[in-house]
Amino acid sequence: MGDDSLQITDLEVPRGGRPVLHGVTLEVPAGEITTLLGPNGAGKSTLVLTVGGALAPTRGSIKLGDTELRGAKPEKIRAAGVAVVPEGRRLLPNLTVEDNLKVATYNLSGDQSKAGVDGALELFPELEKRWDTTARSLSGGEQQMVVLAQALASRPKFILVDELSLGLAPVVVKRLMPTMEAVAERGAGVLLIEQFAHVALALAKRAYVLEGGEVQYSGTSQELKENPDLLQKAYMLGA
Ligand SMILES: Nc1ncnc2c1ncn2[C@@H]1O[C@H](COP(=O)(O)OP(=O)(O)OP(=O)(O)O)[C@@H](O)[C@H]1O
Ligand SMILES: [Mg+2]
Repeated sequence: MGDDSLQITDLEVPRGGRPVLHGVTLEVPAGEITTLLGPNGAGKSTLVLTVGGALAPTRGSIKLGDTELRGAKPEKIRAAGVAVVPEGRRLLPNLTVEDNLKVATYNLSGDQSKAGVDGALELFPELEKRWDTTARSLSGGEQQMVVLAQALASRPKFILVDELSLGLAPVVVKRLMPTMEAVAERGAGVLLIEQFAHVALALAKRAYVLEGGEVQYSGTSQELKENPDLLQKAYMLGA
């Protein structure tokens, strides 16, 4: 099998000594956006941190094609083509945009890094004139663009973005969301976790609703939009 999906199967993950994901199965296909919705405490961030290698599952698998990523170190997961943007990821405030991108791509060759950063900047041309600005002087939206550019610079096959719109004005969210579509159009699989369920459902082909560490819904976004009870769960406390 090729790398046409990121397949998470029966994932059990403990935090603070008790399981918070109870056998989660979820697929992120290449070339499209999938959304993961659910109320506060559902386990969405736990899933992202686990796929990125920061938390260890007690059961299940995380497969990129035939490659098992469960238990791999974060650098190896990134090198295999899976990038994660954890909730509330911060830049180094005293470093410029350029240096924040350099730090994020230090393990790539010079050519790879340049191609990756150039590709990411095509999505965020605003950053070019902010190249020498320190991260702390950027707007919230610009900071989020740099965070996304850091993740995209390694040209991942799959990218998991936890709360892209957190703390951002609606107009900024509107600017950033289409870039996720562009990433999918370039062939990557995108998993989008969003507090604004309606925004994510407008972009995603498939959707999952997680609640209490279990998948409560798995199907098309369209079907979810037409199911008020499930949609209520997806939104619950999430706005
Ligand atoms: N550092 C931690 N130590 C112990 N338990 C934690 C920790 N972080 C989160 N949890 C617990 O894990 C469960 C899942 O939390 P998680 O942050 O993954 O949810 P979430 O769906 O991302 O929520 P939110 O929408 O608020 O971001 C919750 O019960 C939470 O209390
Ligand atoms: Mg979270």
